Amino acid sequence: MSTASDIHIRRLGPADAIAFRDLRLEALSTVPEAFGSSPEEESARPMDLVRSRLTNAGPDAVFGAFADNMLVGMAGFALSQGIKKRHKGLLWGVFVRAPWRERGTGEQLVRAVIDHALSRVLLLQASVVSSNAAARRIYHRLGFVAYGMEPRALRVGDTFHNEDLLMLDLEDR
Ligand SMILES: CC(C)(COP(=O)(O)OP(=O)(O)OC[C@H]1O[C@@H](n2cnc3c(N)ncnc32)[C@H](O)[C@@H]1OP(=O)(O)O)[C@@H](O)C(=O)NCCC(=O)NCCS
Repeated sequence: MSTASDIHIRRLGPADAIAFRDLRLEALSTVPEAFGSSPEEESARPMDLVRSRLTNAGPDAVFGAFADNMLVGMAGFALSQGIKKRHKGLLWGVFVRAPWRERGTGEQLVRAVIDHALSRVLLLQASVVSSNAAARRIYHRLGFVAYGMEPRALRVGDTFHNEDLLMLDLEDR
């Protein structure tokens, strides 16, 4: 069994596009209640768009966790668009493959996004399904606070899921 020290975190680039897409599809299909997007929407996205999402030129970024050179986890950062909103960023797509969970990888990935966000935005936002104890534990430990709850934020089949709306104030860090 590998430990957190065997996991290497780095920013993904265009060359990681296929591994990223596979991991994202695995996330959306195995834990549909944890994400706003769906496998149908993700697989319809042209590969060129997937690659451009991973270019290292702009503020948007995806970080990957690697075990033995295999991508086993990810977390994304997206800058809010527009003059009045670009002081905010969004943490999205946090996922760790089931066999690699509960050894600190999820926390390392979120820390990588926070480090990246520090020089770029004043606020980092996230949303988490209210019943997702593992993700909530990580976010709260790293300083995110809830500023609201969106009832029935996601609908997966016939089941609705509430989401906690979280923010991390980066101004004084
Ligand atoms: C959430 C997720 C990314 C966490 O990844 P991970 O690598 O296991 O994360 P970590 O090991 O850093 O931390 C997990 C923490 O949750 C705790 N945990 C795990 N399952 C739990 C549960 N059912 N109830 C309460 N806490 C739980 C662990 O004990 C650990 O806390 P600790 O460090 O205080 O012991 C992973 O579970 C996952 O991919 N889940 C499915 C997708 C998802 O929910 N993404 C988040 C969307 S907002």
